[in-house]
Amino acid sequence: MAKASSLIGLVAAACVFLLPEVRAYPPAVGILAENRSCMSCHVSNGPWTDEENTVVDILDAKTKTSLREEAGSFLIEVRRNEARTVLTVIGRPKGEASPPRRNAWLYVDPTQLKSSALSKFAPGWDVNLPMSCRIVGDVVEGYEDGYVTALPMTVRPGDAARDAELELQVMLTTGESLKGEAKEGLISNYLLRRVLLRVRE
Ligand code: HEC
Repeated sequence: MAKASSLIGLVAAACVFLLPEVRAYPPAVGILAENRSCMSCHVSNGPWTDEENTVVDILDAKTKTSLREEAGSFLIEVRRNEARTVLTVIGRPKGEASPPRRNAWLYVDPTQLKSSALSKFAPGWDVNLPMSCRIVGDVVEGYEDGYVTALPMTVRPGDAARDAELELQVMLTTGESLKGEAKEGLISNYLLRRVLLRVRE
């Protein structure tokens, strides 16, 4: 049976494998127990506790406009069977004295955590990269002098897709984890954002 935590735990593995300077860890890192979020294993012990200054934005990849709504959630609206690419931007603004070194994130549909399906994204939606990890230093329109990561994600609502609500689980980090130790060495702050997926007919 696929454990609910598999996808979440995989972020650690994905992160490790995407980093050239790090030793190769076994891919099963962190996927052994039922875990609801990054905070099941990690701690929020970093210096970036002033959440209002932390950058978590989702931009339309073409127009570079933010998909943030007034309530603070994000709305990704897509015509059925068409693809739309968004940019996930995470980091700290210009002037930050101790910038994060790398950020990791995961888009997950919490209603799918208990299902045995491999994908924990919204059912019926294709997605190419619902989780990743990246070294700070990307240049993004509007955040040019900040310390951010930015990576595209393409979603496409298929015939079975319905409106859905996702969590965007984010960790800004610096330092290095000790092998097998989520709480040692890594300095991080955890943030959560609501992301609404809407199908247009
Ligand atoms: C089931 C436990 C577990 C969960 C859940 C988990 N992690 Fe981890 N994570 C670990 C462990 C253990 C390590 C230490 C690396 C190792 O043992 O190889 C780690 C390491 C990391 C690292 C640092 C890798 C390095 O080389 O220093 C990042 C970044 C990370 N996790 C991000 C996340 C994010 C983001 C989430 C949530 C979306 C998450 N993790 C959820 C267990 C977990």
